[in-house]
Parts: sequence; C-alpha cells; structure tokens
Amino acid sequence: MPVHMVVIGPPGAGKGTQAMMLADILGIAHVSTGELFRKNISDGSELGMQVETILSSGRLVSDELTISLVRDRLQHTSCQRGAVLDGFPRTPEQAEALDDILDKDGNRVDLVPYIRVRDETIIDRLTSRRVDVNTGNIYHVRYNPPPLGVEVEQRADDIPETVQTRIAEYYKNTAPLIEYYTSKGVLQEFDGEQTVEAVSEQLLAAVEEKVA
Ligand code: AP5
Repeated sequence: MPVHMVVIGPPGAGKGTQAMMLADILGIAHVSTGELFRKNISDGSELGMQVETILSSGRLVSDELTISLVRDRLQHTSCQRGAVLDGFPRTPEQAEALDDILDKDGNRVDLVPYIRVRDETIIDRLTSRRVDVNTGNIYHVRYNPPPLGVEVEQRADDIPETVQTRIAEYYKNTAPLIEYYTSKGVLQEFDGEQTVEAVSEQLLAAVEEKVA
C-alpha cells in the first residue's frame, strides 16, 4: 500500500531536510513544490517564467498552477510507492485538492509531521542556509556546514525582507492546515528546535508506529 506523508511547518522549520531523509529511508518519492518551481526557473520553462517574481517576493503561487503541478508529479512512476510531500499543501484549497487526487487511486494522507519552530529560529536558519547546486542537499553554515569541495549557493528568497513575507504568508494561509489535519487524526507535532538528528529520530519512530 503506498504511503503519503505531508510535512508541514513554517519556512526554515527543516521540512526539506527531514523530508529528504524520510523519502530516502522509506524508498519513496520526495515531492517539494518549492524545488519543482526552482527547477522550472533555472530551466527557463514557461512555468518558471510565470512564477519567478512570485518566488523572489515570498508570496504564494496560485492554487490552480500549484495543484496542477502536483497532480502531474504524483502520476510519475517514481510516486507509485508513495511520496513525502514538502511545501504542499499550503492552503486549505490545496489540502482538499490533495485529498481528491489521492482518493481517486484509493490512497490518503497517512501522516502529517508538523515541525514547530520559533520565528527567531526561522530568520537564522534561512539566512545561513546553503544548497548544493548539483544534488539539492541542504546545509547550514554553522549547524551543518557543506563538505569541502561541494559547490553551494544561497536561495534567492533567503534574504531578510523576503523571509518576513514568507513567515506572514505561512501564518495567513498555511497555519490553518494544522487544524485541518488534526481533525482528521493524522497530525503529529515535533519540536523543530532540537538538532536535525533528534528530530529525525522522533520522526522515524512516529512513521514506524503509524505507517510502516
Ligand atoms: P519552499 O521551497 O517550500 O520554502 P519554505 O516552505 O519557505 O521552506 P524552506 O524550504 O525555506 O524551509 P524548510 O522548512 O524546508 O527548511 P530546510 O530543511 O531547508 O517554497 C519556496 C516558495 O515556493 C514559496 O515561498 C512560494 O512562493 C512557492 N511555493 C512552494 N510551494 C508552494 C505551494 N504549495 N503553493 C504556493 N506557492 C508555493 O532547513 C532550513 C535551514 O535550517 C537549513 O540551512 C538547514 O540545514 C537548517 N536546519 C534544518 N533543521 C535544523 C535543525 N533541527 N537544527 C539546526 N538547523 C536546521
């Protein structure tokens, strides 16, 4: 039976870091809408041109575009065993659309790890984040520095003003999903202020108990 998880939390909570780890260990796909948009931007595709200014402003791409992107992505053979969704859904409309997409194949959202961090932590994490240009691996200049020889870059939206907009968008549009998934009995909260390793360990224990 395919497994579908939705990792939610504010920008910089560690969603990407933990989602990549979970997908790797479970042997399922990692679907990050932020990454899909950034890939389209670097490829210069039509979609990339449509969303570039939206991403660099920190606002959200429209539900219509985002839902259609995820619907296509979930049809890839790489998603046959399931997926860890990271950055999607981000609005109540997207959450309902995801339920419909999964329901058509007899699937559902099995677990929603919610990674909670304070606003002060977000600013520090994002302004010091670096990303491997080749693999997408995520680093932090102090907590998890990139190995020597690895070529990294800073994300265009990791500047303080844009980070503030992203935090505001999160509280306005995405935080309501905590209630949405709590009422469905699938949300589990994690303290994202702990080390990456401590969060990973607790997440894996929850996955084993709920879905493995
Ligand atoms: P997206 O790429 O999804 O960005 P985000 O949600 O703002 O989240 P981030 O990727 O910034 O953070 P993260 O929680 O993954 O943290 P990470 O693991 O990297 O979206 C970007 C944009 O795309 C949006 O603003 C929007 O415009 C658009 N978009 C995307 N999805 C959309 C949607 N569904 N609808 C509409 N628009 C959409 O970690 C951060 C840093 O902290 C790293 O340096 C990491 O090494 C470090 N770190 C992680 N965990 C720890 C820890 N426990 N201790 C210390 N350091 C840690």
